[in-house]
Amino acid sequence: MSDLTAIYPPPAEFAAKANVSGMAAYQALYDKAKEHPEEFWGELAEKELHWFEKWNHVFEWNPPFVKWFVGGKTNLSYNCIDRHLNGPRKNKVAILWEGEPGDQRAITYQELHRLVSRFASCLKARGHKAGDRAIIYMPMVPEAAVAMLACARLGIVHSVVFGGFSSEALKARILDLEAQLVITADGGWRRGKEIRLKDAADEAMTGCPSVKDCVVLRRTGSTVPMQEGRDHWWHDLDATASEDCPAEPLDSEHPLYVLYTSGTTGKPKGILHTTAGYALQAAMTMKWVFDLKEEDTYWCTADIGWVTGHSYIVYGPLAAGATTLMYEGAPDFPNFGRFWRIIEKYKVNIFYTSPTAIRALLRQGDQWPNAHDLSSLRLLGSVGEPINPAAWEWYHRVIGKGRCPIVDTWWQTETGAILIAPMPGAVGAKPGSGTLPMPGILPEVVDFNGNPMGDDREGFLIIRRPWPSMLRTLWGDPERYKEAYWSRIPGIYFTGDAARRDKDGYFWILGRVDDVMNVSGHRLSTMEVESALVRHPAVAEAAVVGKPHEVTGQAVCAFVSLKKGDHDTAALGKELRQWVAHEIGAFARPEEIRFSEALPKTRSGKIMRRLLRDIVNNNTVSGDVTTLEDMNVLTRLAAQHDEG
Ligand code: PRX
Repeated sequence: MSDLTAIYPPPAEFAAKANVSGMAAYQALYDKAKEHPEEFWGELAEKELHWFEKWNHVFEWNPPFVKWFVGGKTNLSYNCIDRHLNGPRKNKVAILWEGEPGDQRAITYQELHRLVSRFASCLKARGHKAGDRAIIYMPMVPEAAVAMLACARLGIVHSVVFGGFSSEALKARILDLEAQLVITADGGWRRGKEIRLKDAADEAMTGCPSVKDCVVLRRTGSTVPMQEGRDHWWHDLDATASEDCPAEPLDSEHPLYVLYTSGTTGKPKGILHTTAGYALQAAMTMKWVFDLKEEDTYWCTADIGWVTGHSYIVYGPLAAGATTLMYEGAPDFPNFGRFWRIIEKYKVNIFYTSPTAIRALLRQGDQWPNAHDLSSLRLLGSVGEPINPAAWEWYHRVIGKGRCPIVDTWWQTETGAILIAPMPGAVGAKPGSGTLPMPGILPEVVDFNGNPMGDDREGFLIIRRPWPSMLRTLWGDPERYKEAYWSRIPGIYFTGDAARRDKDGYFWILGRVDDVMNVSGHRLSTMEVESALVRHPAVAEAAVVGKPHEVTGQAVCAFVSLKKGDHDTAALGKELRQWVAHEIGAFARPEEIRFSEALPKTRSGKIMRRLLRDIVNNNTVSGDVTTLEDMNVLTRLAAQHDEG
């Protein structure tokens, strides 16, 4: 198959200046990491990170638990800020920001140091300390990064909750973490409307006795209630803040953040990342994959509520000393030219976005990008879902003018950093393939028993060895950690993705093999949506599957059976969609709800989502939104299948 696919080799001009130039250079790095991992990572850690105390050994592997740079003391906030202040980066722009209404800020490393020190000293003064937990529920403003870096400075474990999550989802996360601190804002701007974050936070915090303090940033200026004793305006705390707040020397394995992501049950998993290994791999992949140069303006369009925002807006770029651009709002506000205007205005060199965004913008026509000067671009990136060849080709031709390599980056919340992607000056691209693994990463495509599949054969994607930025466990649930990642093939990391490797060694990711959907590059569990639906008083049962969608990759399709009674299904369809938005967040709202008297089940009562997937994928049963489907035939079929 691979020989049928065109390869786009690294352009000679690009390769000549690349951080890793030519296949031999990539291979040398890869081989060294594979043969001598301790030496490879040890040398990099020494060179690339600041240490208050050096580690004793590089890693300790007690499957499935790993520690990196054991015994060392460091601090990621220090590595992202303080370390840059004694050289030419002192007055370099660290964060370049544009708000949706068009306001802008350019924050130098020195200024970032001042902002982070002031905020950290406010938290410290209120008694927050290493090991405590903070929830960050903020719009895409520089203070969101300041809050993350201030927590990291003191060793407060932070958990950023995407502003699109509802108060219910926020509450579940506060409770699970028993967070003492919530950092939020009055609101943020999205498509010209205010997203009222403090209102949602207020709703969430009722019934969360662990929360002692809630810090509120004024962003939109709208009126929000403030609860005496608990709520504090950021600017009030800041008024008397000290600027002297040194970074705490923290153990290499000190918990840095917990990021909740969807698993195969109704309860999200709290992915735990720790300090030193995460910092190193996030910074190295900035150099390897994004070919970062001192003078680059780098823009990742993710939200900081997702892992991409953690590793590739905040921690990776700042640890690598980059200028990282942050944009608050929607790609289509006030029109479909917004992204291209930002690239032109700030002379962006590296642009990293999702296939969903590319497809959505592609549909609007070439006149939008063509109205802007995109000649500053030199590298394009893609993340979150497989990119289809048509979108790849458009990205390459219309945005990159055929000149910019595209890095298709495969990774997960769990992996912390990019694991499979081309080094753009070394590895040629094949549209739709993440290409080759990063140094130190040993992926394989295997069968059910863990045996390697041959070239071009589909199987499960696994990773053979632990890597520095790997998740360490699930917050408060080591058993689920073992079960979810290390039990399918005992002792081997199971990604949950299907893949194949072609004869050139290129990896092609084929999608999830579990009950996880990917909607606009956002991970969503079928069970999470089902649990939300069955909490509605009219719903007896629900089954959710992903259906293919032209723009968002997948869309949520829910099969619902109702409790006995008279129902206006048209009205209920609308109500249930809204209900899911309230329970989880607007991005989880089902595109389609199909009412049915029964759901196909096995004899033991398990819903057969496989059959439902067939229905939505192959349309073997016709049906409109809110139509009543007779699932009885399928139910009988399913039962027969189970018997046979
Ligand atoms: O299925 C893969 C898909 O997204 C999943 C991880 O989702 P999440 O933890 O939310 O992280 C997304 C951002 C890193 C993976 O298991 N995925 C991610 N990147 C790609 C991808 N599928 C194909 N190609 C990619 N480049």
